[in-house]
Amino acid sequence: MGNTAKFEIDGKTVELPVLRGTDGPAVVDIRKLYAEADVFTYDPGFMSTASCESKITFIDGDAGILLHRGYPIMELAEKSNFLEVCYLLLHGELPSAPEFEVFEKNITYHTMIHEQFDRFFMGFRRDAHPMAIMTGAVGALSAFYHDSTNVNDPAQRMISAHRMIAKMPTIAARAFKYSRGQPFVFPRNELSYAENFLRMCFSVPAEDWVPNPVLTRAMDRIFILHADHEQNASTSTVRLAGSSGANPFACIAAGIASLWGPKHGGANEECLNMLTDIGTVDKIPEFVQGVKDRRYLLMGFGHRVYKNYDPRATVMQKTCHEVLKEVGAENDPILQVAMELEKVALNDPYFVERKLYPNVDFYSGITLRALGFPPEMFTVLFALARTVGWIAQWKEMIEDPSQKIGRPRQIYTGAPARSFVPVDKR
Ligand code: SDX
Repeated sequence: MGNTAKFEIDGKTVELPVLRGTDGPAVVDIRKLYAEADVFTYDPGFMSTASCESKITFIDGDAGILLHRGYPIMELAEKSNFLEVCYLLLHGELPSAPEFEVFEKNITYHTMIHEQFDRFFMGFRRDAHPMAIMTGAVGALSAFYHDSTNVNDPAQRMISAHRMIAKMPTIAARAFKYSRGQPFVFPRNELSYAENFLRMCFSVPAEDWVPNPVLTRAMDRIFILHADHEQNASTSTVRLAGSSGANPFACIAAGIASLWGPKHGGANEECLNMLTDIGTVDKIPEFVQGVKDRRYLLMGFGHRVYKNYDPRATVMQKTCHEVLKEVGAENDPILQVAMELEKVALNDPYFVERKLYPNVDFYSGITLRALGFPPEMFTVLFALARTVGWIAQWKEMIEDPSQKIGRPRQIYTGAPARSFVPVDKR
């Protein structure tokens, strides 16, 4: 392929540069197209559009490959830990032992939240969806950290990143406790990130909380699987919000709002509800027919980029079996339904022709429920883990010298210009 692409329209020819990355499809740089050809490109849903240059995550959807700064997700999930992956996403390299020690201390000593912050939770109904609480609460962080709102100051960007990564588990655990009517639990600095979060969620004053290393490791691995995923809907939301120079906490709140949708991060909750509604293996054929009749989607299946098995789903399925075994629920009927449904779908032409495979959400709900979380908390956990991806992508966008405020155009198909008609003439 050459280094330029010719675009011809109305007898005019525009030569556009072709840019090539480390891997993946080349891009046609159309930045000068409108100025030279007086036309826009049209791509709702961004099916064929690269919105930015990034060095953080690479996905090959056909091969089912996911790399974070070049490292395969399978290796990170098996050999690394979530805070180390946070460092990798933020800084571009795996940390040395001293670098990790400093980073872990930075995060640990930002896990508490301002005492006044807890009043926000009291403003919500007890039965409020925890994602509604997260969207509001995280946005409110903008009102607390005036010392880190200058997005052009690298030190302030980094302290914002540390605060977001550190405080999300504390806020998420509070959203969960509030919905349960149980007292909030403060973070403990001697615990690991995942262990601290599980304790803040499940510790009660009435008895000592006993950590389970298998469940802690599973939680940490689930955070790794959800850490970042290129330019998905919520990350693109954070980038677009951040492109105006908005407060980083407000940008993350925008990302949480976008993630909540059932076609995106809300799919894990919807998927468990779907599996529960199916109930037993014998109901699968009737359910699958309903999908084919387009009455509903097969939640946890399909992906804009993966036209092969989502590598995260493979690790998630393995983690699911580990957790269910540890909690003595390996015969969970919902898991039997999920495994049979996956087998049926992977062999059914309707799904095969559309290249629909399990995505990260297919097994996560069963796993999270076995860890003790209710379905309405599933997307909160996704948001907790994805915060590092959002903030790393936000930071990369701010530091990109070619960055401009995002302002797409449109094709206008509304009414042509016309004069106002007084009401007595209408
Ligand atoms: C996440 O982008 C990311 O990276 C997201 C994510 C991340 O880490 O950030 O990976 C996390 O959001 C994973 C996806 C979770 N969502 C779900 O599981 C919900 C169910 N999936 C679908 O909503 C859908 O697959 C999407 C939204 C994920 C992708 O949709 P696309 O790429 O826009 O594809 P499409 O809707 O155009 O579907 C193509 C065809 C259509 O059939 P036809 O009209 O061509 O006949 O496949 C069908 C769709 O009807 N289809 C499905 C289906 N997904 C697509 N049919 C039944 N069940 C499904 N799940």
